[in-house]
Amino acid sequence: MPLSEEFLDKLKDANEISSVMSTYVSLKRAGRDNVCLCPFHSEKTASCHVYSDTQSFYCFGCGAGGDVINFIRLIEHLDYLESVKFLAQRAGIPMPDDSYDRSGEVKQRLLEINREAARFYRDILLSGAGREGRDYLRNRGLTENTIRKYGLGYAPDDWGKLKAHLLSKGFREQELVDAALLVRSQKGNTYDKFRHRVMFPIIDRRGNIIAFGGRTLEPDAPAKYLNSDETAVFHKRSSLFSLNFAKNTKEKFLILCEGYMDVISLNQAGFDNAVATLGTAITPEQARLMRQYCEEVVISYDSDGAGQKATMKAINLLSEAGIEAKVLQMTGAKDPDEYIQKYGADGFRMLLQQSGGAISFELKKFTAGLDMETPEGRASYLKKAVALLAEVDNRIDRMVYISDTARICSMTPGEIEKAVEERRRYKSYSMKQQERRELINPVRKRSGGENLGRSPEDKAQRGIIAFLFHSPDMLKKIEERLTDEDFPDENYRNMYNAVAARIKNGISLDISSIGDEFSAEQVGRIMGIISEHNLLPYQKERLNEYITVLEKRRDKYGGKKPEEMSESDLLERMEKLRREKSGRK
Ligand code: UTP
Ligand code: MN
Repeated sequence: MPLSEEFLDKLKDANEISSVMSTYVSLKRAGRDNVCLCPFHSEKTASCHVYSDTQSFYCFGCGAGGDVINFIRLIEHLDYLESVKFLAQRAGIPMPDDSYDRSGEVKQRLLEINREAARFYRDILLSGAGREGRDYLRNRGLTENTIRKYGLGYAPDDWGKLKAHLLSKGFREQELVDAALLVRSQKGNTYDKFRHRVMFPIIDRRGNIIAFGGRTLEPDAPAKYLNSDETAVFHKRSSLFSLNFAKNTKEKFLILCEGYMDVISLNQAGFDNAVATLGTAITPEQARLMRQYCEEVVISYDSDGAGQKATMKAINLLSEAGIEAKVLQMTGAKDPDEYIQKYGADGFRMLLQQSGGAISFELKKFTAGLDMETPEGRASYLKKAVALLAEVDNRIDRMVYISDTARICSMTPGEIEKAVEERRRYKSYSMKQQERRELINPVRKRSGGENLGRSPEDKAQRGIIAFLFHSPDMLKKIEERLTDEDFPDENYRNMYNAVAARIKNGISLDISSIGDEFSAEQVGRIMGIISEHNLLPYQKERLNEYITVLEKRRDKYGGKKPEEMSESDLLERMEKLRREKSGRK
């Protein structure tokens, strides 16, 4: 049963788009509208526009767009109905009774299961049966308070205790498998996934327990840490451990660590702005998530080779997301947890203060494997350093790094500056050349990969779809001359069919109500089509041209794509074209 237009209107009235979006991104005024850094792709300049008159948003960088419902779908990873529910709840509007929603219920159930499991693990940790876990955590320096704050727990050395407990609470076996708490063996029976481990609940920024990490207490277990598998409520790529605390920090930056224990130790030492990825390298999603809360991140990875390599990757990802990355460098301990145990909170605070920008980190890295005592070593260092320094746009920063570099390879800053400025001049010359080329042959670039240098056929298909949204009564006119088969692109053909069907059945074409039929990405594409046409007049002549383009294409190929034609079809076509050509002469 589709939601009524009346209800959707009410819902949107109560959820003004910029006020909803501003809880996720920071909006800046631009004329009548707002702009922000797009939360759906990595960028440094704001290309996501929020239009108050149409209550919609559109990112010119990646093509994400739609109304407030679509925004929630994308940012909260919810489906259409869940997003509607989410907004209804936000505004305190009751949902109409007949909109029955299964997937939302399933997720709700998984969250309940996780909450109950966390309670189970915690109760055991605090009971006699959890002695081993408690001793372990205490040995690692965690206080009673910290253990409670993080809801830590203990999974006993047993194959079925959690299962028995959750079954007794009325959950079904399959649900527990879906929650990734039980594993199903090849024979088909199920057992507890986490055994003989201290347990770390992973909590999202809304306070839901979405997954667990468990650290083994066995000296030679194959995996030191075990994380929940992906479930309907757990997406590792876009989750960060302890963000539920860090998002409320008063600090202006976040500290990015590798491990659970690093984050927890830091918190106990008073650094409430630490987060960690979940056993994987940082993803663009996580970088963007951080960007929603801060503009600066101090990378505080392990001091070993792997940690330093991961640091390079993190610098790049964070910078791409528009975050200023700094690097904390540590000697005398292998990770922040160990450092704090050894040197205390004050020691770590000093490291934070000394943490340098990404450039100093990279400049230092360049010396790796080179013998800086030899001219060859210095020359090869200098080549890399100059290339990097030329990328630093701020002049004062550039001078600071130049003097660092000069010291490293025993030259005068003046000499290095000359080389750097030379390279910058060359760079700006080749950039101007590029700009000229683009002016002559304008192809608008999109970081999302969608190419706007469209073929006439592409333009025609998009134009017709835009027309249908603007003036549905044009459908008759279009159908007099075209069928869906005249749309060469399958995506556009499907859109056209879906939109035409809605018009014929008198169903609303409002961007809010099409979400029940289209995916969030499709809604974004449709938004893109509509907004690129908003600047053009909706005149019959334009529609005519679009239709003609598709007609011509059909006549050229006899209604078939070249690759679909049989050999005799093709021969016949070629013959016909030849006749036409000579006739014209
Ligand atoms: P580390 O191996 O650096 O462990 O893994 P750690 O944080 O120092 O752990 P302790 O101090 O020995 O307890 C860092 C992170 O990588 C993930 C975990 O998220 C861990 O916190 N990891 C590590 C795994 O997912 N699986 C593993 O087997 C090991
Ligand atoms: Mn550690």
